[in-house]
Amino acid sequence: MSHIRQDWSPETYDRHARFVTDEAREILNWLQPKPGERILDLGCGDGVIAERLMREGCKVVGVDISAEMLKAARARGVQVIQASGEDLPFENEFDAVFSNAALHWMTDARAVAEGVLRALRPGGRFVAEMGGHGNVATIVTALRAVARRRGANESLAGPWFFPTPAEYARLLRAVGFDVERIELVPRPTPLPGRMSDWLKVFRGAFFEQFGEDAPVVIAEVEDLLRPVLCDSEGNWTADYVRLRVLARKRK
Ligand code: BEZ
Repeated sequence: MSHIRQDWSPETYDRHARFVTDEAREILNWLQPKPGERILDLGCGDGVIAERLMREGCKVVGVDISAEMLKAARARGVQVIQASGEDLPFENEFDAVFSNAALHWMTDARAVAEGVLRALRPGGRFVAEMGGHGNVATIVTALRAVARRRGANESLAGPWFFPTPAEYARLLRAVGFDVERIELVPRPTPLPGRMSDWLKVFRGAFFEQFGEDAPVVIAEVEDLLRPVLCDSEGNWTADYVRLRVLARKRK
C-alpha cells in the first residue's frame, strides 16, 4: 500500500499552504475590485479570496475541480461551480476573471485562455498570478535527480505549466486579449514547516510511485535541498517565481 497520497483536503491546505492565499496581496492590487462587479475566481480552492472579494461588494462565482475544496468554499458563502478550467461553461458573464496560484496546474493553457475570454464581457479583464518560468526549479531538479538515481519516473517531478512572459503574452494575444501588463518576479517564499511538508502537499503524486519507500525518498529529496533552501536555523524557503498578468478582452 502506498504511504503517500496527493492530499488536497482543506485541513492540510490550511496547515501547510495558507501562505498561497496570504501571498495574493499583490495580484489583488492588480485586480482593483470594485463594488458590484461580477468576478469569476478561477481555481478558487477553499474560497478564502472569493470571500474577501465578496466583503468588498463584488458578486463572485468560484470555480474549482476539487469537490472537497468547493465544499469549504460553499461553507464560506461562496457561490461555486465544479468545472475544469480547461472547459469553462460561461459566456459574456463577468467583468473580471481572477486567478491565483491555479493556472500552472492546467496544462492545456490555450483551452483555459479561450474559456476565460468567452467568460468575460467585451472589455472585461483577466488578472492572474501563477508559477512562471523557473518556478520551483531547484525543487524540481532535486526530484528529477532522485528519480533518475532510483530508475523511477522522472516526468512526474514537474507536470506544471510555468511559461515565460513572452510565451504567455503571445498565447493571450492569439486568442483575443490585449495584454496591458505582464511581469515575471522571483519571490522566494518562506514555508510554514519543513520542505517534506511542501513535497507531500504539492507533489504527493511523484512520491506515490515509490510505495512503502516514499518516506525514505522524501527524506532523500529534503537532504539534497537542505544546503540551498534551508537556513542555519532550520527555516525553509521555496524558490517561487511568479508570473503576473493583466489582460483585457478586445471589444
Ligand atoms: C506555485 O504556486 O507556484 C506552485 C505550487 C505548487 C506546485 C508548484 C507550483
